[in-house]
Amino acid sequence: MHKSVRDILEKRQSGTKISVITAYDYTMASLCDKAGIDILLVGDSAGMVMLGYESTIPVTMDQMVLFTEAVSRARQNALIVSDLPFMSYQASTSDAIANSGRLVKAGADAVKLEGGKAMSGTIKAIVETGIPVMGHIGFQPQTTTLAQGYKVQGRTKDAAVRLIEDAKALEEAGVFSIALEMVTDEVSKIISEAISVPTIGIGSGKYCDGQVLVVHDILGMYDKLKPKFVKQYLSLSDQITKAVSNYRTDVESGKFPAEENWFSMDKSELEKLRKEIGK
Ligand code: KIV
Repeated sequence: MHKSVRDILEKRQSGTKISVITAYDYTMASLCDKAGIDILLVGDSAGMVMLGYESTIPVTMDQMVLFTEAVSRARQNALIVSDLPFMSYQASTSDAIANSGRLVKAGADAVKLEGGKAMSGTIKAIVETGIPVMGHIGFQPQTTTLAQGYKVQGRTKDAAVRLIEDAKALEEAGVFSIALEMVTDEVSKIISEAISVPTIGIGSGKYCDGQVLVVHDILGMYDKLKPKFVKQYLSLSDQITKAVSNYRTDVESGKFPAEENWFSMDKSELEKLRKEIGK
C-alpha cells in the first residue's frame, strides 16, 4: 500500500523530515520510489526539464495528465502530488475542481497549486470535493516570473508579513501541506512554527518540515539553470554525453555491434537457405 496524506502528516508529527522529489516519467519515478522518497511531485517544471520550454507557463493539462499517468504506473510506495498548470485553476472554481479531478483520475493522490490568500476559496472548494491540496507560496514560477523575475521572497518585514498571512490563509482553506519556494530561512521558520501542516521547502532553508528538489537538478541533468539552493549529487549530463559519444564512435568504427549483440540462425537452417538461394 502506498503512502497517504495521513502518513505525511504523521511523519511531521514524529519530527522526521519529509522527502519530496519531482518525477515525470515511468523509469525515473520507479527509481525515486525505490529510493524511499515520501512524495513524488509531478511538477509543472516538467515544462522546462522534459519539454524544453523557457518557463512553466506553456504547460497544459493534457501534458500533466500524461506525466501523472506515467508516474502512477511506476509508484509502489510514495504519495503522488501533481501540479495544476498555469490557467487550469485561476479562471474559475469549476475549472479548478474539474482539472483536479482529471489529475486524480490520472493517478495523483493530491494536487498542488500556486497562490496565497487569493487562492484560498479555490483551495477550499477542491478540498471539499475530497481532493487533498498542497499549497505553494513564496516564489511562484507560473506568475512571479511575469511580474518580478526570479527573486528571493520574504526579505523585508512587509513581504514576510504577507507570506505569513498567506500561509495561515492556506492552512485555514484546508491544505495538507505548503511548498515554500525561495523564502528566506527566517520567514520559513516562522511559518513552519505557526501552522499545523507541514511546510515543504525549495530554497527555503532548514526549518521547513520537508524538502523538495527537481530530480534533474540533483542528478546534474539540466544545465540551463543552477540555483544556489540545489545540491547536486551526480553529474549525469557529462556522463550521458560521454556514453552516447562512445556509442557513436563505436557505430562509426564498426566496433558495435559485436558478436554478443547479434542473433544467429541455426547452422543447418542456414545451409538449407544457402542451397535454396544458391549462395
Ligand atoms: O514544478 C515543480 O517542480 C515545483 C517545485 C519546484 C516545488 O513546483
